[in-house]
Amino acid sequence: MRFTVAIDGPAAAGKGTISKAVAAHFGFAHLDTGLLYRAVGRRMLQGEEPVDAAQSLTAEELEQGDLRTAEIAQAASKVAVIPEVRSALIDFQRAFARRAGGAVLDGRDIGTVICPGAEVKLFVTASPEVRAERRYLELAAKGGTVTRDRVLADVKERDARDAERSTAPMKPAEYAVQLDTSDLSIEAALARALEIIEQNLPAT
Ligand code: DC
Repeated sequence: MRFTVAIDGPAAAGKGTISKAVAAHFGFAHLDTGLLYRAVGRRMLQGEEPVDAAQSLTAEELEQGDLRTAEIAQAASKVAVIPEVRSALIDFQRAFARRAGGAVLDGRDIGTVICPGAEVKLFVTASPEVRAERRYLELAAKGGTVTRDRVLADVKERDARDAERSTAPMKPAEYAVQLDTSDLSIEAALARALEIIEQNLPAT
């Protein structure tokens, strides 16, 4: 059976880990749509105009270099506010969602804008403090000189910008099932996500 799973939620809530595992479980392809905005953000930091960058983005760029830095995350959130940047990235995401073998997409607006017809929609959350701690550990493991306070402030700033923008703001889609991972281990969060998906699949 092929279907599409839309997974949205704020930074470091566990979307990435859950999406990868769900895709592997069903043998589906996975797209981390944050990488698109990060690649545009990186080009903006290099001096390019964001709309031009979004319109000429290539899939190869998503694999090149480290897009998961704190600086690129902020730049991604800033370019993501621009409606023309968002519209330039829609076709690539929708084509990915239609892949014959089934697809899992994660981001902020997958259930609301990119794939409103997705068979299953999850909205993964966790408290800002838990998310900041996870992101801090990730960035520190890469050898960055970050502090917990700085990461928490960044997470809150990005949450506010992503949720308050007028085009495709981050919010749970209608019928999205909410999954709060604040008090869950990775294993428990994955088990719960798979349970939700199995329960929400259309009857065949
Ligand atoms: O998921 P992430 O942290 O890599 O995303 C980086 C930024 O990109 C995020 O702060 C907002 C933006 N984004 C978006 O606006 N819509 C998406 N579907 C995915 C990411």
